[in-house]
Amino acid sequence: MTSNPPKTADELREAFLSYFEGHDHLRMPSASLIPAADPTLLLINSGMAQFKPYFSGEKEPPHPRVTTSQKCFRTTDIEEVGDDTHLTMFEMLGNFSFGNYFKKEACAWALDLLTNKFGLDPERLYYTVYTTDDEAENIWKELGIPADRIYRFGHEDNWWGPAGDEGVCGPSSEINYYRGSLDDVPAVDDPIRNGEWGPNYHDDFVELYNLVFTQFYRDLDGNDTVLPAKNIDTGMGFERMLAVLQGAPNVYETDAFRPIIAHVEQLSGKEWGQDTETDRAIRVVAEHSRSASFLIGDGVIPGNSGRGYVLRRLIRRGMLFGRELGVDTTMLSVVAKTVSDHMGHAYPELVGNYEFIKDVLEQEENSFSRTLEFGALVLAGMIHYRSENPDAAERIKDGKSLKTPAGDDGKSVGTRLAIAELERLVEAGNSDDIDEWRNIVSGTEAFVLYDTYGYPVEVTEEVAGEAELSVDRTGFEFAMETQRERGRAAGGFGGNADSTRVYEELGVEDTPFVGYETLVSETSIVAIVKDGQPVDSASEGDEVELILGETPFYAARGGQVGDTGSVVGEGVEISITDTLAPYGHVNVHYGTVTSGSLTKGAQVTATVDGDRRERIRRNHTATHLIHAALREIVGSHVRQAGSVVDPDRLRFDFTNMQALTRDQIKAVQDRVNEKIRLNRDVEVHWSTYGEAVEEGALAFFGDTYDNEVRTIKIDAPWSYELCGGTHMDHTGGIGTFVITSETGIGSGMRRLEAITGVASEEAIFERFGALDDIASKFRVPVSDASDRVDALANDLAQARKQVEQLEEQLLQASVGGGGANGSSNSFDIEVDGTSIHVEVSEVPASNVGALRKTGDHLKNQIGKGVVVLGSVIDGRPMVVVMATDDTVKAGVHSGNVARAIASRMGGGGGGSPAVAQAGGKNADQLQDALGATEEIIRESLNGGAGS
Ligand code: ALA
Repeated sequence: MTSNPPKTADELREAFLSYFEGHDHLRMPSASLIPAADPTLLLINSGMAQFKPYFSGEKEPPHPRVTTSQKCFRTTDIEEVGDDTHLTMFEMLGNFSFGNYFKKEACAWALDLLTNKFGLDPERLYYTVYTTDDEAENIWKELGIPADRIYRFGHEDNWWGPAGDEGVCGPSSEINYYRGSLDDVPAVDDPIRNGEWGPNYHDDFVELYNLVFTQFYRDLDGNDTVLPAKNIDTGMGFERMLAVLQGAPNVYETDAFRPIIAHVEQLSGKEWGQDTETDRAIRVVAEHSRSASFLIGDGVIPGNSGRGYVLRRLIRRGMLFGRELGVDTTMLSVVAKTVSDHMGHAYPELVGNYEFIKDVLEQEENSFSRTLEFGALVLAGMIHYRSENPDAAERIKDGKSLKTPAGDDGKSVGTRLAIAELERLVEAGNSDDIDEWRNIVSGTEAFVLYDTYGYPVEVTEEVAGEAELSVDRTGFEFAMETQRERGRAAGGFGGNADSTRVYEELGVEDTPFVGYETLVSETSIVAIVKDGQPVDSASEGDEVELILGETPFYAARGGQVGDTGSVVGEGVEISITDTLAPYGHVNVHYGTVTSGSLTKGAQVTATVDGDRRERIRRNHTATHLIHAALREIVGSHVRQAGSVVDPDRLRFDFTNMQALTRDQIKAVQDRVNEKIRLNRDVEVHWSTYGEAVEEGALAFFGDTYDNEVRTIKIDAPWSYELCGGTHMDHTGGIGTFVITSETGIGSGMRRLEAITGVASEEAIFERFGALDDIASKFRVPVSDASDRVDALANDLAQARKQVEQLEEQLLQASVGGGGANGSSNSFDIEVDGTSIHVEVSEVPASNVGALRKTGDHLKNQIGKGVVVLGSVIDGRPMVVVMATDDTVKAGVHSGNVARAIASRMGGGGGGSPAVAQAGGKNADQLQDALGATEEIIRESLNGGAGS
């Protein structure tokens, strides 16, 4: 009865899906790894995740039976990857029933599929059921499974869900495959079957197919309620099933991975199957490059939190294993090509977004390489200092100071850290620890390497190990834990909780928002908060927070700023400067009582500043247009990463690797303006979150949405977003749209700023005016103004050069041979029979460069001797000191002379024996300092060259 069992990855996917299609299931595409309709889930972790609203009954499914092959990601397994079974990204085949068939059909089809279609030996299949699930056990028995191949397990093994913090869940039954020898199967009554041998107990069993009987809904508090309908959710691990079908010992030796493995082999020159460590490294590079490609293909980019952090960890771990293979150039980004070629037909986003995937990987790999390079230098500094300074501890104990390098280079940083560690040990006084300093990189040092320089502790261990040093891992973990605790203490939610507690305690209800329809509302004062306390009244001058019975004021949210305006009652006026919703949907109006006094319960008229709101509306609708235009022109990988919509401008942050070109910016601007000219309707609808997203509405990931959501459509599906903001009724009212800047804000993120309506008109008027001004000053047409500015800049540069040359000539003339300047002085100093000539002058130099050049000139002129030149530059005294070679030999040290001169001017100075410089604070002290030159040089010569 077995038809041709599937042999390849493609055949397996197809066989599963068409089997269930044959049983009236609708074949649906894999959802994105980024959960579209589920803020409680980091990444899609199972086939059912995209169907949560169908299971819960919140939404009608397109068909009561569905089948998919879904890409899934499990973050908990990252560190395990490299063994035989764990993958981060994997495919899950599933068949689902939404209130349609239940256990009986699910079990019967599973058995038929595995044995009759896939040709698995029934003798090798073992079944598990939930402890109390007699029904499931009986179904298996009725299907002919002997009792001894059915095992019972509890919550840990035979319960599934929810995916995320809430959702549907239920008991499950798993089908496991026995890979051992049939001769080794223990007898039915062998007690070894009770807890040692069997599924979940023994490594010879692989879990292939999980049938979940989805009957409950678990809420955020952990309570289960029975669902109105019974459902089926199943999952078959695609790669594992493939390994079984292909008789492969592990997933890496199936055709799902072979081409990727081969590419890693080729890049590293290492061969698969030679030794376990190499295989493990090859597996990790292949797996991480595959899963990172999938994440990026769905729009995740590396970052320091959430999905971005998962991706960053993957790439970095992949690279570290790449280094184990001897590859320290980019590798994951190269392997991504094979991933795309090999899997693109099943997951087209790998092809469509290939360039983006490659760029993101490459950039992250390069940046981590730089991190590793610098960290390696720091570690080298630590290691070398230890080996080159065996007597360092003795020197500290003897009270001698250690030579500590000051630079920012890695080696200096490492040296300083090594010295600091030793000083700490000497202070603590344990002689064993001090002796061990030479052989152990401390926990603190490893922590600084990791925390400040991003250098992984495993790499520290590896490199230190090569130099025969060990790393104090316990100390490292301790430092990590301390840091975490600090983080927890600092990052508590105290601040927030405090400011919202008052609203919680007031027990106020959500404020009905009427601001979509009107800007004026007759309402009442529900609560007044002053200095964080609820009060019954407030008077002129008081700063208050008000809660109204209903409000036309939009509270800041989703990037749009809060409204301002006024609240006026009998004998009282409050000016509202901001509106926020710090607690649930309670809109809080922040303002000042400008006249009269206010009491709780008073009737008032709340009026939004309409002109300001109008400007905000224009910018908000323009933000949607910009988003759609970017996705159309730059690519659908563009994802909104944040926005600010205020009356003056709009700011839109989005994911993209490269800066937009001038042409792209122009194209986006043109497209937006075109949609404005077409005066499209801005349609507002209400829907459920799941429905809207299903229809293609864009949600801003990271925001939480209510179940009922508002959607904004402009030429849908061109622009279709979930949004609670205030919008124009038609695009025409936005007026002219102008992009004012495009900048980078961190890896893979760009920022556009733009203006609309009145702001554009004002900006255009100003720019035109400024240009006209410039052109008329030059008496040329506007079109020639830019050339004239260039010409002027050239002329100016030449003129500056001439001025510099003239200044030099003047200065040199002023110091030459006594010069025209009265404040020159020259004398000779006798040292051990040699006479040293010194020239001291104050000159009117305008910058230090000119002063030095004049010094050089004078030095050349006198041939032998010391030159000391001073000048007041920008109000501060500056002195250069220069000594010819023979005077340096005779003991003159310009640096020391400069330092001494500087100290008489309240400043600092220094330099080499031949050239030095001093600067001070008070220009009046220059003359005295120069006057003391003779004494200073004499003293320095008598005291020797040292300082
Ligand atoms: N949702 C079930 C699982 O992921 C089928 O195992």
